[in-house]
Amino acid sequence: MSVKRIVVDVLNGEAAYPPPLWMMRQAGRYLPEYRETRKKAGSFLDLCYDPDKAVEVTLQPIERFGFDASILFSDILVVPHALGRDLRFEEGHGPLMTPITAAGIAELNPETFHVNLAPVYETVRRLRKQLPSETTLIGFCGAPWTVATYMIAGRGTPDQAPARLFSYREPEAFRHLLKVLADQSAAYLIRQIEAGADVVQIFDSWSGVLDDASFEAFCVKPVAEIVRQVRSVHPTVPIIGFPKGAGINNATYRKKTGVTALGLDWTVPLSEVKAMQRDGAVQGNLDPLRLVAGGQALAEGVGNILKAVRGGPFVFNLGHGIVPETPIEHVWAMINQVRNG
Ligand code: CP3
Repeated sequence: MSVKRIVVDVLNGEAAYPPPLWMMRQAGRYLPEYRETRKKAGSFLDLCYDPDKAVEVTLQPIERFGFDASILFSDILVVPHALGRDLRFEEGHGPLMTPITAAGIAELNPETFHVNLAPVYETVRRLRKQLPSETTLIGFCGAPWTVATYMIAGRGTPDQAPARLFSYREPEAFRHLLKVLADQSAAYLIRQIEAGADVVQIFDSWSGVLDDASFEAFCVKPVAEIVRQVRSVHPTVPIIGFPKGAGINNATYRKKTGVTALGLDWTVPLSEVKAMQRDGAVQGNLDPLRLVAGGQALAEGVGNILKAVRGGPFVFNLGHGIVPETPIEHVWAMINQVRNG
C-alpha cells in the first residue's frame, strides 16, 4: 500500500502511541445527522442497501470526529437476508426474522447471494474513493454462531437459548447451517476486500454463552474456516476477531482461529492485555456506559486503558457498540483524552 494507514500498521503489530481510535457503531442514532438520513431512508434495511445513503452515514462520524478508521455501514444480518431469509427491523424490537427450521436450512440458496449484496460492494467501492487516504476502511461480517442465533430464534434473545437447544437437538442441520454461513461469509469478506476494504472484522457478539465443546465447535472452528478462506485469496489483509464475552477463551481464540487482532469487551482484565499484545494487536475495550456517564467515570476508564496498553500494538475502541443515549460531548472528551495520551 502506498499510503500510510495507521490502523492497518497497528493491526500488523506497530506499537503506536497515542493509539489510533474508532468506535463500534460509530454511525448511529447518537448522531443527529444519522437520525436525519435514517428518517429520509425509510427503513433501516433500505438505508443498508442504498449506496448513496449508506456512504453518507458511514462518512458522518469521520467528518465530525476524524476517526482513524471507518466501518462500512451495514448489518451482520444482510448475510442470511441475501440467502433468502426474510428480515425486518422494527423500532424498539431490533431484527425480526422467521425462525429457521432444519428443512429451511437444507433449502438455503446461495445462488443470488452476491447479486443481492451488490449494493454493499458498491458502498465499499465508493467509500474507498471518498474517504481521506489515511483513513482505514473496515469491512465486516457476523460470525456464523452469532448470525445463527438470530436465524434460529427469529430475534435477539437474552441467553441464546433457542440456538443452543437447536444445536443439541438438530446437530446435523446445525453443523450444515454453520458451514453455509462460514463459506458465504468468507466469500462476502473477499468481495468487500476486492471492493476496497483494508481490514475486516468478524463480530461474534454471543460467543460468551457456550460451554467448552460448543465454543470450540461453533465459534472457533467456523471462524478459523473463514480466516483460512479469506487468507487463501488475500494473505495480508488484517482480520480482527471480536469474540464478545469469551473471557478466559480470548487467549486461545486468536491462536486457534488465526485472526490477526483480538477485539476485547470491557470485562477482559487490563492486566492481561500486555500478554495478549505479545501475540499481536489488541482492540478495545471501554465500557460504553462509561461513555454515557462521562466525567470521572469516563476519564478513569480511558486512563486505565491507556496505561495498560502503552508499548504494544493497540487500537482504542469501545468494548461493544456505542449506545444511542451517548452525549456527543462525551465522545469528544474521550477522543481528546486518547489523542493527548
Ligand atoms: O459499527 C458500525 O457503525 C457499523 C454498522 C453496524 C451495524 N450493526 C449498524 C446497525 C454493525 C457492524 C452492526 C453489527 C451487528 N448487527 C451486530 C454485531 C455487533 C453487536 O452489536 O453485537 C449485531 C448482533 C447486529 C444485529 C442488530 N442490528 C441488532 C441486534 C440491532 C438492533 C439493536 C439496536 O441498536 O437497535 C441492529 C440494528 C442496527 N444495526 C442499528 C445500527 C446503526 C440501529 C438501527 C436503526 O438505526 O434503527
